Amino acid sequence: MQYFSEDSSAEVVIQQYKNCKNKRLKKIMESAINHIHEFVKEVEPTQEEWMFMIDYLTKTGQKCDSKRQEFILLSDVLGISALVDTINNRKTLNATESTVLGPFHVQNAPKKDMGANINYDGKGEPAFIYGSVSDTEGKPISGANIDVWQANEDGFYDIQQPDVQPEMNLRGIFTTSEDGKYWFKSVKPKFYSIPTDGPVGDMIFATGRHPNRPAHLHYIVSAPGYKSVVTHVFVRGSEYLDSDAVFGVKDSLISEYVKIDDQEKAKELNFKAPYYELQFDFILDKT
Ligand SMILES: [Fe+2]
Repeated sequence: MQYFSEDSSAEVVIQQYKNCKNKRLKKIMESAINHIHEFVKEVEPTQEEWMFMIDYLTKTGQKCDSKRQEFILLSDVLGISALVDTINNRKTLNATESTVLGPFHVQNAPKKDMGANINYDGKGEPAFIYGSVSDTEGKPISGANIDVWQANEDGFYDIQQPDVQPEMNLRGIFTTSEDGKYWFKSVKPKFYSIPTDGPVGDMIFATGRHPNRPAHLHYIVSAPGYKSVVTHVFVRGSEYLDSDAVFGVKDSLISEYVKIDDQEKAKELNFKAPYYELQFDFILDKT
């Protein structure tokens, strides 16, 4: 019989889980207890620091509602969301890399005709976005769904500003035809700050970090028989590419918004010159 002591703490606590029948749960609990006890022994928190942590986690939960998920944000800024995504989507062959989903995707985005403009508030620098969806051997994928969403010129998603932005501003779902091509109109994204009016913001500022994400466009690309990819395309040259607050940047996901200063071409798109063009081709792996 071993009693609880500083030396035996993890071992003694883990003993209490020995009858857990769910093998996966048992493994997770044992590992969590081992790591957390190691952490506590290394840091040696004071009673006040322990209480501060309890308070912090309580406030994090209290900040959550149907539109705000402060725990996911906490996971994001600690790099845990990015790590879980990377582990679960290890790159195979030449398929497009994934990155974090983020908290601003909605399930019921409108289906749009190819070529539609998803910019409803008229703000920002116009952009024509196009590319293709193909398999790892280069064969075009028809019927692929391309779900896109982005922040507006002021750095906010529509669901963050329900009284300011038109509903479903800067989001939509496009479906590729036979040739696997897609194209639509939007605006060049800007960098933005993650929400800082909660416990995550307090931590960001207390530790001297910044809360910004480099400019990006979100995508979920899916097709029957293929693995879906949840990803972003980042704007080459954007501020904060090297210090994304949520660690989402991957080299293969950075692409150029090319400035086009051509009145004729702009007119064809119903834009005013100059505007931007972004090409990004997606490659999906088979399931
Ligand atoms: Fe985003």
